Amino acid sequence: MDKPYSPACERNRGPILEVLKEHILPTDERLLEVGAGSGQHAVYFAPCFPRLEWFPTDLSSQLLGMKKWVDEARIPNLQKPQRLDVSKDDFPKLRFDVVYTANTLHIMHWKDCKSFMKLLGHRLREGSRAIFYGPFKYNGEFTSPSNAEFDETLRARDPLSGIRAFEDVNNNMMKNGFELVHDYEMPANNRMLIYSRLKFEKHK
Ligand SMILES: C[S@@+](CC[C@H](N)C(=O)[O-])C[C@H]1O[C@@H](n2cnc3c(N)ncnc32)[C@H](O)[C@@H]1O
Repeated sequence: MDKPYSPACERNRGPILEVLKEHILPTDERLLEVGAGSGQHAVYFAPCFPRLEWFPTDLSSQLLGMKKWVDEARIPNLQKPQRLDVSKDDFPKLRFDVVYTANTLHIMHWKDCKSFMKLLGHRLREGSRAIFYGPFKYNGEFTSPSNAEFDETLRARDPLSGIRAFEDVNNNMMKNGFELVHDYEMPANNRMLIYSRLKFEKHK
């Protein structure tokens, strides 16, 4: 099997890194990456935060390819790829300061997005951050014609996938105990949403 390669990861990693630098704190110890795909983001970002243990995860189908990137990179603070399906599994039994995920919410089915947000609410403690990168629509409108076309392509392939409404994501995150601290406009009609876990309360 060849090493998987995502050209989009090479294009978006610089702008994403600039935002991560604003929201990953020097005291943070662990970051969980959900839906890490090829692992290209993990091998690029992890060395930029050498004191942070970076845990890349994805469905088992992605792990072999990701392992190729991770093994080759030999980065001390980058952990081995682990299986994590947010619709079935809990997070690894560790305290995470940050959960980062890129381009996943429009791929996961909405019920799985909701399970993911519920897990975030259960497992992150006050002040921990959840960071979502990808396309979103606002007030029922796509942010560009290309995003509308992308949404159609996604739905033709899998009717339960598709670009999510920011309002749905935001309402679910609030319900699970988070506040939105930043919504960045990113290149290529993407967004980067930064959430912070509020004081812990038991959420449904
Ligand atoms: C478009 S790829 C994004 C990969 C990478 N983060 C990037 O930005 O290039 C979407 C990823 O979400 C993962 N994914 C889909 N459903 C998932 C689930 N239920 N739990 C965890 N990951 C999931 C897929 O396996 C895939 O790797």
